[in-house]
Amino acid sequence: MKLSSKLAMLLVITLLATILTMSFTFYIQSKEFYRDHLTKQLEHRLVAHAESIENHFVIDTILHVLKMEKEDTVNFLLFDEHLTPLVMAQPIDADLIEAYHIWIEQIIDTTVLHPSIKQPITDYVSIREHPIQHIWSMKPIYVNERVKGYLFIDQDMREFETTKNNILQLVFIMSIIIFIVGLLFVLYLTRVLTKPLQMMGRATNQIAQGNFEYEIQTTANDEVGRLAQDIQQMSNQLKRYNNTRKQFLSHISHDLRTPLTYVKAYAALLKDREENDTLCKKQAEMIYKQAKNMEVLVNDLFELAKYEEGNIQLHKDVVNLYSWFHDLKLDFDLKLQQENIKLKLEIENNEWSAFFDKEKMKQVVKNLIENSIRYTPNGEIQVRIEKNEQLQQLDISIQDNGQGIPESELPFIWERFYRVDKSRTSKNGGSGLGLAIVKHIVELHGGTITVESKPGFGTIFTIVLPQGTGLKED
Ligand SMILES: Nc1ncnc2c1ncn2[C@@H]1O[C@H](COP(=O)(O)OP(=O)(O)O)[C@@H](O)[C@H]1O
Ligand SMILES: [Mg+2]
Repeated sequence: MKLSSKLAMLLVITLLATILTMSFTFYIQSKEFYRDHLTKQLEHRLVAHAESIENHFVIDTILHVLKMEKEDTVNFLLFDEHLTPLVMAQPIDADLIEAYHIWIEQIIDTTVLHPSIKQPITDYVSIREHPIQHIWSMKPIYVNERVKGYLFIDQDMREFETTKNNILQLVFIMSIIIFIVGLLFVLYLTRVLTKPLQMMGRATNQIAQGNFEYEIQTTANDEVGRLAQDIQQMSNQLKRYNNTRKQFLSHISHDLRTPLTYVKAYAALLKDREENDTLCKKQAEMIYKQAKNMEVLVNDLFELAKYEEGNIQLHKDVVNLYSWFHDLKLDFDLKLQQENIKLKLEIENNEWSAFFDKEKMKQVVKNLIENSIRYTPNGEIQVRIEKNEQLQQLDISIQDNGQGIPESELPFIWERFYRVDKSRTSKNGGSGLGLAIVKHIVELHGGTITVESKPGFGTIFTIVLPQGTGLKED
């Protein structure tokens, strides 16, 4: 879930919870307040009516009182001393009257009634499971200390229901408003938070992959904006650092090449000069050998620097794969014999051709075979060329049954100067740059190179060149 949505959800939930609890407490409190208020009023009225009737126990007074209670929300009636309804202010259902009757009877049975008690007896009742509560209140009428009847009033609290509905409506409207606010909040946060963060995420991802060209566009002047600026600055600095490093590599390898050529050439002269004694020749031979090693290293370094700078052009050609491979194999024949290693080619059709930079791809395969020879004593190396005719894709794999590479080392072998066995560098030769160059060349062709290896069983490097490389045969 997006950060902005999370925050907005939190906001909406908090606001909703606040509004709901507030409305709920408001509802409960106002309901109590309304009920108390209504009860007091009712009891007051009942006492006043009872007093008037007690003072003038004549029909006129009773009718006058009835007239005053002719309301919709009220049932008002007078029972006689035997609980038979005498008069009522409005028509009332018979079973309701029966309910009133039972209620009053219960009070008479359980309560001490006396003329000195002025307060009516009140209760809150829900009739027939109806949600609207009713207030029932009754007061005995005493004339000359004797019960003459019971004045009864039933008031429903319907009016409060309207208030409740109003509150509910209000809550509903407020909830809608909150949702809209939440939505706007999401949009706002997405703009000020999520988008810049996503952009920075993409930028740092690109930087991690070594691409420093990504520009973070931000005009914000807050913490997020400042973070974006810092990342941009970091990226710029890394870019500058990377460029100077590449230039440095390129310059130094270039400048080392000329003096090295001299050293090598004069050492060659010295070691072959007849008039020199054996020791001198031996030492010159040593210089020559080391200068040659150094030349390989410097050449590799120079080449790698060019790849890193992106200064290399491919010269693609139509190549017959079979003869291309045998051409590059010539370089290894002697070495293979010496080391007792078999090198086999597996190709379905000798007529197959491809379209790539033949020299650079030779370099790739030669590098891989060289590695295999180095790490496969008395073994077998198999080069397999496969073609996906439909996709015109070309797969070249180089497999050996040599010492293999531990799995933990596999991700690093492409790095320059990385060697699995750090101690065997000089003995085994090789600059540690081979695979770095190989990777550059394959990727320049738009392809990929992967490696699988099992220590003790061997290694297989697989190059997949993109569509169009493996030409269709007619
Ligand atoms: N076929 C292989 N079998 C075993 N290890 C290999 C193989 N190819 C490459 N490696 C490991 O990967 C490292 C890097 O190879 P590379 O870049 O060609 O450098 P170099 O060959 O100069 O040592 C080698 O030092 C070696 O440890
Ligand atoms: Mg190598």
